[in-house]
This record gives sequence, C-alpha cells and structure tokens, in this order.
Amino acid sequence: MSCALTDGFGRRITYLRLSVTDRCDLRCVYCMSEDMTFVPRRDLLSLEELDRLAAAFVARGVTKIRITGGEPLVRKGIMTLFGSLSRHLADGRLQELTLTTNGTLLATHAEALAASGVRRVNVSLDTLDPSRFRTITRRGTLGVVMDGLRAAREAGLRVKLNTVALKGITETEIHDLIAFAHGNDMDLTLIETMPLGDVGADRTDQYLPLTTLRRIIESRWTLADTAERSGGPARYARIRETGGRIGFITPMSHSFCESCNRVRVSATGTLYTCLGREDRTDLRAALRGSEADEALHAAIDGAIRTKPRGHDFRIERGRPALARHMSALGG
Ligand code: GTP
Ligand code: 5AD
Ligand code: SF4
Repeated sequence: MSCALTDGFGRRITYLRLSVTDRCDLRCVYCMSEDMTFVPRRDLLSLEELDRLAAAFVARGVTKIRITGGEPLVRKGIMTLFGSLSRHLADGRLQELTLTTNGTLLATHAEALAASGVRRVNVSLDTLDPSRFRTITRRGTLGVVMDGLRAAREAGLRVKLNTVALKGITETEIHDLIAFAHGNDMDLTLIETMPLGDVGADRTDQYLPLTTLRRIIESRWTLADTAERSGGPARYARIRETGGRIGFITPMSHSFCESCNRVRVSATGTLYTCLGREDRTDLRAALRGSEADEALHAAIDGAIRTKPRGHDFRIERGRPALARHMSALGG
C-alpha cells in the first residue's frame, strides 16, 4: 500500500500527531480540569501497536510525526518507541520525528531523544514567573522545566517555546518571554486558547486574541512577517531587535484549515481528522483484527475521504461544544 493520503478538499496529509497517553503530570488551567478521568491503561495501544500504526501512515506518505500526549514523556517505555520510529528517518521516508512536551521530564530524556534522531522539540511555557507557573500548571515547578530546556539545548536539540495566550497574563509576560526565548536561541510560538472540554473556568475569560497580543508586541518590538513555515499551523514573523522568530497560531481569529496537512490519533487508536470536530474512526479494532494492514488502510482511507473542511470550535451556554479535553489528543 503506497498511495498518498489526500482528502476530499484536495489536501495532502503528510503530518501525523500521535498521542501516546492522555495523562499528564501537570493540570494547566486551559487544558484540564482538576478532577480529570483518564483512559484505563488497558485501553491504550501498546508501544508495538503505536509503532505499527505510525509505520502504516509512513507507508501512505506521512513525512512528519509528532508524538504528543497528555504529556508524552510520562508514558512508560516511550524511548523504545522513539528508538523504533527512528528507522523511518534512517530510510529517508520520514523527514521529521518530534514531540510536544511540557518539559518536566526533558532533563531525563533529552540525550536519548537526540540519539533517536529528534532534532527539535516544542516545549510549553506560559510564564517565567515561578509563582504564576504554579498557578497556571496547578502542579509544576518552573525550575524543573528550565533544567529541561537547558538539557535539551545541551543535547543539541532546537527548542520552540509554545505559549498559550491568556487574558490578564500574557499581555505583561510577553516581552520577557520574547527576550528569554530569543536570548537563548529558541523560537517562540503564541497560541490562541481553543474551547475543548470543561476546565472549570470560563473560556471567554481566558481568551486573548492574537490580533490584540500582536499589537501589544508591536508597541515594543519591530515585526517583519516571513514566509518561513515549520510544517504546522503557525505563521511567523521575525523580530528585528532580537533576530528571533515569533509564531502565531490563530485557530479562533484567523482559521488556517484550508491548508491543513494533518490528522491525529489518540492513545487508544482513534483517528481524529480535525482537532475541532468530533469526526473519528476507530483504528484499534482494525489493528487488532488482523496482522495484515489491509483493514487498517481501508479504515484510514475512509476517514481521510471525509475529513471536514474546518473546525467548529464553539461555546454553547458557557461550555465548549466539544467535551473532549485538549489533553486527549495533545493538540
Ligand atoms: P511545528 O511543527 O513546530 O509547526 O509545531 P505544531 O504547531 O504543528 O505543533 P505543536 O504541538 O507545537 O502545536 C502548537 C499548537 O497548535 C497546539 O495548541 C495545537 O493544538 C495547535 N494545532 C496544531 N495543529 C492544529 C490544527 O490542525 N488545528 C488547530 N486548531 N490547532 C492545531
Ligand atoms: N487551547 C490552545 N492550546 C492548548 N494547549 C493545551 N490546551 C490548549 C487549549 N485549550 C497547548 C499546550 C501545548 C500544545 C500542545 O497545546 O500548551 O503547548
Ligand atoms: Fe499537561 Fe500539556 Fe495539558 Fe498542560 S497543556 S495539562 S502540560 S497536557
């Protein structure tokens, strides 16, 4: 099986976001509620099944795989999966193997990630203030993430910081975040909060449009838009004073769905063709039903054919229309 994955709108799917767990050691206020219920471990795909699934997508022209969570580095044995997936880099079919992490376990795993062919990591960081960090993550310690960032860079990994724009916080944090990221040779990407799942807070109180944040940034820094892309939804600008890149991910204010190149698979083997829709297809049954991949490819084909044109993030009566939390798919 080698034919490429193209959806009903002519979009080529070349980017797989593969979640390996819905668990996380943090509880970020825009992502999870305090009292999350996680998928029972017995329902998770095994590492071997995740590997087989990834290989099936590579066979269909996927050139970029991002391992996500929850927090991917809390999954037991995760480095075995990275090690195994690296064979697709070696044979040239995969151009990029990477992950998005909260950074708490990066100090432990940075060297092994680099040895598996990971070249860059995206690390979530919303604040440089230790007490605010604790408030936002409800659990974490900023110093641990800082150690992780240092370890990543020492291991030769490029780092991109992901900052979720939060009303009442990021307007003042942003200047320090730019100086920190660019002073340490890291990209910085800003993300609009998406209403996914009940987090025990009013989403509209958290939402800060990047159009507003960009105006605040431009009051201090000079931005020049660039056509550079990283394979994901971010649009980038360069900041003249630092020479560094700043990315803008704007699902709410400026949709980027028309150029979507990605799908995601949950840790239980459910394929979601859009983050902001409920359309989904069970791949686990196809995986487990046969050692041959025909049924798996047929299930993938059926799902891709009906990939929606775009997301439908909505708040209904104060609650996100989509009950699934971001941590179920890792974004
Ligand atoms: P790069 O490879 O560095 O471009 O990363 P990326 O932006 O593809 O991945 P990352 O995991 O860092 O995601 C950053 C943010 O973009 C997260 O909040 C994701 O949820 C969001 N994101 C990624 N893809 C999509 C998408 O297709 N739709 C929406 N709405 N958000 C997305
Ligand atoms: N909206 C936008 N981004 C979110 N993230 C987690 N929850 C949300 C949300 N509701 C971010 C994380 C991480 C990335 C995968 O998604 O901070 O950087
Ligand atoms: Fe965990 Fe990431 Fe969600 Fe924060 S955003 S709770 S770090 S999965």
